[in-house]
Amino acid sequence: MQVQEFPIDAVKQLALRCARAAGELSLERLKQPFSVEYKTSASDLVTAVDKEVEQYVVETILKQFPDHGILGEESTSQRDTTNHETLWIIDPIDGTTNFVHQQINYSVSIAVYHQGEGVIGVVYDPSRGEMFWAVKGGGAFLNHRRLRLTRSVKLEEALLCTSVFWNKRAEQIGIDQIVKQLAGKVRGMRLLGSAALELAYVAAGRLDGYVSMSLHPWDFGAGRIIVEEADGVVTQISGVPLPYAENSSVMACNPTFYDELLNHLKASFEQD
Ligand code: IPD
Ligand code: CA
Ligand code: CA
Repeated sequence: MQVQEFPIDAVKQLALRCARAAGELSLERLKQPFSVEYKTSASDLVTAVDKEVEQYVVETILKQFPDHGILGEESTSQRDTTNHETLWIIDPIDGTTNFVHQQINYSVSIAVYHQGEGVIGVVYDPSRGEMFWAVKGGGAFLNHRRLRLTRSVKLEEALLCTSVFWNKRAEQIGIDQIVKQLAGKVRGMRLLGSAALELAYVAAGRLDGYVSMSLHPWDFGAGRIIVEEADGVVTQISGVPLPYAENSSVMACNPTFYDELLNHLKASFEQD
């Protein structure tokens, strides 16, 4: 049997094209009213635009690669994600609350994993026209500019970002374990509201680190590849490698203060 080579260039072009078109579609939809529904609570939203954008991306991918698997936030329950050598992981709108309230600070996130390894990550911010993308082994980029974390940063100099869920009691521990423990040790803390964009900003050096107690694979799938290709480090907050198709905690940062950050996170867990 002939072994087929993975068509990395065609997949990359398609991922970039889908992210851009999805972003433009979301901007177009902002010009008209759209429906907003609660998923689990008033702080967990989904709009008609999230669903339409995801459907567009899924159809476009399957037209070109009908045998690829897709794990998308808005359609996970209907699709079988196992038994595919190549899996696309999609968040059509990461930062839906920002999309609804601010109409900026959200992103389209598209990742491609082949045989379990992240090969392409794309995070597109349509309101700023910023395309963050990376190919495994080929570097990370913001539009055409190469991203590299060459600056040395100590924890006390770091601008650190996190996310805190307010909708489920179990996830409020992010406040104690991340915000309270780290706020006094870093230069500043931010909560921007789109994990994919926050990870892309770590790769671009706009943020020095990002920490979250719990994210879905579509929140971190693409951003993680972009950070790694910019020479950043991404692991779970215990220091072990990230999974790719399961929920996980995430810490991503400039490598120069990774150990310092990890030690503080470990210490704050041990205190509990
Ligand atoms: C959310 C955003 C947010 C993070 C949440 C995610 P959504 O994604 O990434 O920053 O804190 O954990 O669920 O629901 O807007 O796609
Ligand atoms: Ca998300
Ligand atoms: Ca989403």
